[in-house]
Amino acid sequence: MKCDDRIVNEILELKKRRNAVILAHNYQIGEVQDIADFVGDSLRLSQQAAATNADVIVFCGVHFMAETASILSPTKTVLLPDPNAGCPMADMVTADKLRKFKQEHPGMPVVCYVNSSADVKAESDYCCTSANAVKVVETIDADEIIFVPDQHLGHYASTKSSKKIILWNGFCPTHRRITPDALMKQKDLHPNAKVVVHPECLEEVIKLSDAVASTEGILRYARETDAEEFIIGTEVGILHRLNKENPGKKFYPAFERAICPNMKKITLEKVLWSLQDLSHVVSVPEETAKRAKLAIDRMIAIV
Ligand code: 13P
Ligand code: SF4
Repeated sequence: MKCDDRIVNEILELKKRRNAVILAHNYQIGEVQDIADFVGDSLRLSQQAAATNADVIVFCGVHFMAETASILSPTKTVLLPDPNAGCPMADMVTADKLRKFKQEHPGMPVVCYVNSSADVKAESDYCCTSANAVKVVETIDADEIIFVPDQHLGHYASTKSSKKIILWNGFCPTHRRITPDALMKQKDLHPNAKVVVHPECLEEVIKLSDAVASTEGILRYARETDAEEFIIGTEVGILHRLNKENPGKKFYPAFERAICPNMKKITLEKVLWSLQDLSHVVSVPEETAKRAKLAIDRMIAIV
């Protein structure tokens, strides 16, 4: 038996014993995606976390995702297999800075991208994900809205809605690596390919695309679009599912070094240790969780 097979068997065995569910984001390494009960985008993973009957959720993703799972399932034990798997974009806004910004823009509702800490969600009126940002801002009964922390998703939502959006200057360092030049090189190499990109990408990259979607939306687009080749403008981990689910279609990364180092911190070994030791528990103080949940619930009511 190969070492990986042994680890996989141990994970499956322990998962049963602990009544655990394994959730993995679309950017996780292939081996981790393959042992997960559910692989998806931030929206679907949070819905899954809210719906599960398991006692333990092993979250193969980054810290804010595990926090969101804990907010939605406060009685469950939520584990992040690597406590250092964070999101630099989420760290670009803090609750203190947001409170100050709100004072400078009195009365304006705040939408926070799910890629933010529980403290920031607690200071926000609505949460959103990349799958529903446009719908959330469009639904809010206000002409001007503060959007944190991703300036690119916020700007994209403003171009697709009638709202004036006051942007925070956060960004995803991984998506920023996908430049118009890199994408143009791929377009020259694959002139018949459809281009689908994530809304965390630069505006100049979005302008060169055929479609803009969340990671789950990208998977749907590839499934439903009648083309043989696709250029994918997001973190390269998504290629695993794209290739697995679409035999016969070809997928090229817009930039092959668009790799999120934090998403790649989770390995099979760490998933196993996490189940063995019930580590590393992610929880949110009750008062913060209560306020953050209001913003998440308002999002869920819209979508
Ligand atoms: P989605 O999977 O929700 O599109 O999110 C992308 C992302 O950057 C998560 O960190
Ligand atoms: Fe954060 Fe970007 Fe990594 Fe997603 S891909 S976790 S937004 S740094």
